[in-house]
Amino acid sequence: MSIQGKSVLVTGSTTGIGEASARAFAAQGARVLVTGRNEERGRAICAEIEADGGIAAFCQADLSDRAQCDRLVSETVQRFGRLDVLVNNAGVLHEGTALTTSDYAWDETLTVNVSSVFFMSRAALKQMSAQGSGCIVNTASEWGLNGEPGFVAYCASKGAVVQMTRCMALDHAAEGIRVNAVCPGETHTEMLDRMLQDQGGDFDENLRNFAAGIPMRRVATPEEIARSILFLASDDASYVTGTTLVVDGGNDATAGAYGP
Ligand SMILES: NC(=O)c1ccc[n+]([C@@H]2O[C@H](COP(=O)([O-])OP(=O)(O)OC[C@H]3O[C@@H](n4cnc5c(N)ncnc54)[C@H](OP(=O)(O)O)[C@@H]3O)[C@@H](O)[C@H]2O)c1
Repeated sequence: MSIQGKSVLVTGSTTGIGEASARAFAAQGARVLVTGRNEERGRAICAEIEADGGIAAFCQADLSDRAQCDRLVSETVQRFGRLDVLVNNAGVLHEGTALTTSDYAWDETLTVNVSSVFFMSRAALKQMSAQGSGCIVNTASEWGLNGEPGFVAYCASKGAVVQMTRCMALDHAAEGIRVNAVCPGETHTEMLDRMLQDQGGDFDENLRNFAAGIPMRRVATPEEIARSILFLASDDASYVTGTTLVVDGGNDATAGAYGP
């Protein structure tokens, strides 16, 4: 895959899909800026990437502070000379209907999942416009395409990511800047673990029940989502822009609940 030597910034790369993506980019010869709030984990991931012969640097940032978005892009350019790929992956999930979602949960979801994608992209697009090339991959969600009962804030935020993806792709297509999104289905990360734990009862049984409702009868691994992100970021996807790549074990192909 044509990623060798590219300068890549992955938000939310201290765990889960972002961590798997950072490792996958580095394994393909990209230079990767790892970021998140958790400095210990971010530095440990970079140390492991470097021990394996890759190139990675950590920059701590809380994306609820919009000033951090400009800083992350500047840091990447300072360290690696340019910014070829931005992966807007950081995200939070709060469960709740309109009646049970707190103001805090709504605000955090919109700030991290939507506003940070906008401010990160704006900072990156300035740099990519000046370079005359670049690409953005947003981690949206299958729940940005379909409704899910009990997750109004999260679904609203991921729907917004899908629409930002389309609009930014159209605005910048003629400049040679591509913008795409992956829409993962349920993926085995800390986010999913927290959601299953919050359901109460037996965790393993919750996971089995969850998987039973997916056509492929299992949740995704973070590495499976990372490979799709890598494809969209690579020159192999040179004519792909404004699209949403659904990676969900078949969920989106069904018209309703998918029983065993
Ligand atoms: N897991 C799934 O089933 C699934 C399905 C569809 C879409 N997604 C999406 O995939 C993306 C990655 O999620 P995941 O499943 O890998 O979850 P995760 O393991 O909980 O990772 C979330 C990442 O976001 C970062 N983050 C959260 N709030 C942040 C903030 N205020 N500032 C900076 N970084 C922040 C976290 O880093 P720190 O804690 O270090 O700040 C962490 O690296 C999210 O956008 C999620 O919505 C996940």
